[in-house]
Amino acid sequence: MKNSLPDRVALVTGGGSGIGRAAAVAFARAGARVVVSDVDPEKGAETVRMMPASSTFIQADVSVTSQVKDLIRQAVELHGKLDCAFNNAGIEGAIARLHEYPDTAWDRIIQVNLKGTWLCMKYELRQMLKLGKGAIVNTSSTAGHVGSRGRMSAYIASKHGVLGLTRTAAVEYGAKGIRVNALCPGAVRTPMTERLLGADPERAERMAQFIPMARFGTPDEVAEAAVWLCSDAASYVNGLALPIDGGYLAH
Ligand SMILES: NC(=O)c1ccc[n+]([C@@H]2O[C@H](COP(=O)([O-])OP(=O)(O)OC[C@H]3O[C@@H](n4cnc5c(N)ncnc54)[C@H](O)[C@@H]3O)[C@@H](O)[C@H]2O)c1
Repeated sequence: MKNSLPDRVALVTGGGSGIGRAAAVAFARAGARVVVSDVDPEKGAETVRMMPASSTFIQADVSVTSQVKDLIRQAVELHGKLDCAFNNAGIEGAIARLHEYPDTAWDRIIQVNLKGTWLCMKYELRQMLKLGKGAIVNTSSTAGHVGSRGRMSAYIASKHGVLGLTRTAAVEYGAKGIRVNALCPGAVRTPMTERLLGADPERAERMAQFIPMARFGTPDEVAEAAVWLCSDAASYVNGLALPIDGGYLAH
């Protein structure tokens, strides 16, 4: 959506790969000045090289309070404000049945996916409250709506939690001019999905059979929805958990 975010400043976390990288590029295409953040400096810098000169990379681990605080402070020092935030950084974690799930893996996934989203929202909201407006989009998942047999209980719990945070913030801050929504991607072709599928192309084909559109989504298809939710075209959309899943949740 070209020029749908004129004069806006946007932050994208997890911007070094997959959906976050596509979103950073899409926010810039829409006219925003974009701060790309990621825990991995090389991948973040690579994303910024694909973008206009107004784009910046700031390294931060979203699970660490001091780093998130610094990230938002630096973004605002750089651009004077924060209009939009796409809280997208996430990890898939270990694959194990619930009764065998390792405690350390559980803690890490909750720290990154759930606490990380909350920390980003906490410091973004402080800036947006000063501005009297703003739009936040969090990345949940179809795994935020339903359980699965995929041995990913911690991931699923974290993504359900992201929807709880999103809805709570939408209710708490709607009257302050700040909209908070979530994206719920289904199976999207990214490095995360490649890791989960392993080197088995037939597994991807089998999975695609369970998707009404019979294919995986692309990072760009998710990115465009993030841009739309941050734009004025979605000015009355608040508290939405939007599936981008080829119809997966419809059956
Ligand atoms: N790919 C899918 O099919 C799919 C489906 C539903 C939801 N999601 C969600 O979309 C988001 C992006 O996933 P993706 O598929 O693009 O994954 P990805 O692994 O390709 O990219 C994730 C990015 O997040 C970064 N990251 C990881 N931990 C971080 C941390 N602690 N702090 C900051 N950055 C960190 C990684 O370095 C990486 O660049 C995740 O929240 C994921 O759970 C993905």
